[in-house]
Amino acid sequence: MSAGQKLVNLGCGRHFHSDWVNLDLVPFSDEVKAADLINGVPLENNSADAVYHSHVLEHLSPQCGRKMLGECFRVLKPAGYLRIAVPDLEQIAKLYLGKLQAAWETPEPINMADYSWMKLELIDQMVRTSSGGAMGRAISDPDAINKEFLRSRLGSEIENAQSAQASEGRRAPVFSKILGKIKKKLAGWLWGHHSETLDEAEFRRSGEIHRWMYDRVSLRELVFSLGFSDFRICDADESRIPGFSGYQLDALEGVPRKPDSLFIECQKPAETFAKTEATARARLPGEFQEKVA
Ligand SMILES: C[S@@+](CC[C@H](N)C(=O)[O-])C[C@H]1O[C@@H](n2cnc3c(N)ncnc32)[C@H](O)[C@@H]1O
Repeated sequence: MSAGQKLVNLGCGRHFHSDWVNLDLVPFSDEVKAADLINGVPLENNSADAVYHSHVLEHLSPQCGRKMLGECFRVLKPAGYLRIAVPDLEQIAKLYLGKLQAAWETPEPINMADYSWMKLELIDQMVRTSSGGAMGRAISDPDAINKEFLRSRLGSEIENAQSAQASEGRRAPVFSKILGKIKKKLAGWLWGHHSETLDEAEFRRSGEIHRWMYDRVSLRELVFSLGFSDFRICDADESRIPGFSGYQLDALEGVPRKPDSLFIECQKPAETFAKTEATARARLPGEFQEKVA
């Protein structure tokens, strides 16, 4: 653990550091513990110096997202920091409008390609019904004429997205494929469900799709309503968490890993924490209050 600090990375995916407590629904390594954040954060009250999650909040429904942030508040020590990275709805909306106007005025291929991409950024991750969606197909198109623009939006993640797209379909082990087929047959017999409906329901539970989006105003309102204070918008390699840039989580050698992000930090108040914790807990639904008490 770094200098006695307990640092927690929620929904870390493949981006974690061994000095941190790393949690994810699908652990990619022995250094990541399995946890479904919808059930809470499996840590003691007031135990973490910092909690961080990148591109996780938007995968939860607004209600579950709020619960998870309430959990971040609970597990943080007084004066501890919460750092959040989410796709920036404001930035996406502004870019979309700019590209829309350019495509309207000058419908040449490059403007049309950028406009189509921004539409995908707004919509595809919410409505896709299979892994990668239309964004995945656009990224892996070798003939894309707007590769530079795609890189400006996706940063180094573009390579990860391309290799994930390439391995799609080769991933499921034979056993789970057979099990999947049996489940679909059974559902068809029992409830008359079409197998596509079942596929889609399974996919939507897998954690890939976006269920909500945030901007600087809605995120600030949300964390303040849970008792956090001192909300700040940061750069990818700027943080009040000691040594954060050295962990290379949001920026690789100073270059943002996910340039489409809004990075924010806020703090659990040091003095008034008992009062604000009680307030935050009181705002959570009943079954969750018991869990965190
Ligand atoms: C878009 S990835 C982001 C991964 C990583 N934090 C990053 O910045 O690259 C979203 C991650 O959230 C995880 N996730 C989604 N829903 C979750 C849940 N209910 N509990 C725990 N992890 C979840 C997914 O498994 C996935 O690893």
